[in-house]
Amino acid sequence: MRPAALRERAAAALAAARARTAGLTDVVSDPDLTAQHSPLMSPLVWDLAHIGNQEELWLLRNVAGREFLRPEINSLYDAFQHPRAERPKLPLLGPEEARRYAAEVRGRVFDLLDRTPLEGTALLDRGFVFGMIAQHEQQHDETMLITHQLRAGDPVLAAPDPQPPQGPPPPAAEVLVPGGPFTMGTSVEPWALDNERPAHVREVGAFWIDTVPVTNAAYQAFIADGGYTDPRWWAAEGWEQIRAHGIGAPLFWRREAGQWLRRRFGVTEPVPDDEPVLHVSWYEADAYARWAGRRLPTEAEWEKAARHDPATGRSRRYPWGDADPDPVRANLGQRHLRPARVGCYPAGASPLGVRQLIGDVWEWTASDFLPYPGFRAFPYREYSEVFFGPEHKVLRGGSFAVDPVACRGTFRNWDLPVRRQIFSGFRTARDV
Ligand code: AVJ
Ligand code: FE
Repeated sequence: MRPAALRERAAAALAAARARTAGLTDVVSDPDLTAQHSPLMSPLVWDLAHIGNQEELWLLRNVAGREFLRPEINSLYDAFQHPRAERPKLPLLGPEEARRYAAEVRGRVFDLLDRTPLEGTALLDRGFVFGMIAQHEQQHDETMLITHQLRAGDPVLAAPDPQPPQGPPPPAAEVLVPGGPFTMGTSVEPWALDNERPAHVREVGAFWIDTVPVTNAAYQAFIADGGYTDPRWWAAEGWEQIRAHGIGAPLFWRREAGQWLRRRFGVTEPVPDDEPVLHVSWYEADAYARWAGRRLPTEAEWEKAARHDPATGRSRRYPWGDADPDPVRANLGQRHLRPARVGCYPAGASPLGVRQLIGDVWEWTASDFLPYPGFRAFPYREYSEVFFGPEHKVLRGGSFAVDPVACRGTFRNWDLPVRRQIFSGFRTARDV
């Protein structure tokens, strides 16, 4: 890409992120912004100033060498110094101050972007550090949408529903992915984050994978069959969690008059049968898969299903090819506030016909979050490296809540296996 086009792309990504941040924070009152809606989440006003603070740190301080505008606030917005549950008690910037601070940083960043060559160092190469900051803001926009979902009270967000499925339904319930090597990860995607790198060859044996994510109807069959009361299906820690907390259905579901209802951004509605199941933990996904006589796909299997083109042997950027996501191919970017029904987005299918890998719901995989061979922390250890290990499980593919800038065929998300407030679902696999 030419320098002007790169610059435009970075500016557009930053502007789009800020528009979404505004959309999520302008719709609630100041007391609502400073309140903690769940001990799992920060007050929204923390995310707002943290977004500005990370942008100031990376772009104004580390790239441009400027002094901090307000050095005294840096420690308040360092995620590693204060766990989420503690953040409401900190002397945080108020809503107006936080908005003004983030806007001030952004104004200076646009000036910087205009006169900084997007080459010469690894940080600047093809605009990486600007792209990293746009992704960071969009990741917090997904986090803030989770806070909205956990917030009690009247609905404040609205978006049109996705279209119902248009094309023909998928021809079969599962797809056979042939065995053999494929290229996992990337060394060329300009804004890919450190944990997606480097590209490397993996040998992956043949396996079957679900054509679409597991639906609410299928998940209800697991519940109705006593899935939550039979320890045979559960990993030991998962069984402990559901016993200790009386869990018997996905988060936000409740049973009323013989029907499953769910709460979604302040509205209670019947659980739709043919939507991907949402708000399940890794343990719930793992238990369902065992009950179904199947298993979760490994992370390598997921990526092979999503990127490997058997005709050329190449790995694509996305299941449909190398073109950026668009509304015909995937449900991303909070355009809708729910997953699309299974069978949607035939244009987003992989070469072998696997559907809805990108968008709709984050998909739990069987795998621990580990570095690829040759991994190098860049540009900071606290993005990925400190989270590597068996305590975090990998999720792939992105949800309706994540922006395309922070979602790729190679993008890796991770969380604790007990987490269920995130926009998580799954699909299953089996050996051949
Ligand atoms: C990659 C989504 C797990 O939200 O904890 C935001 C992203 N890192 N700020 C998170 C992130 C630093 C991260 N996840
Ligand atoms: Fe952050």
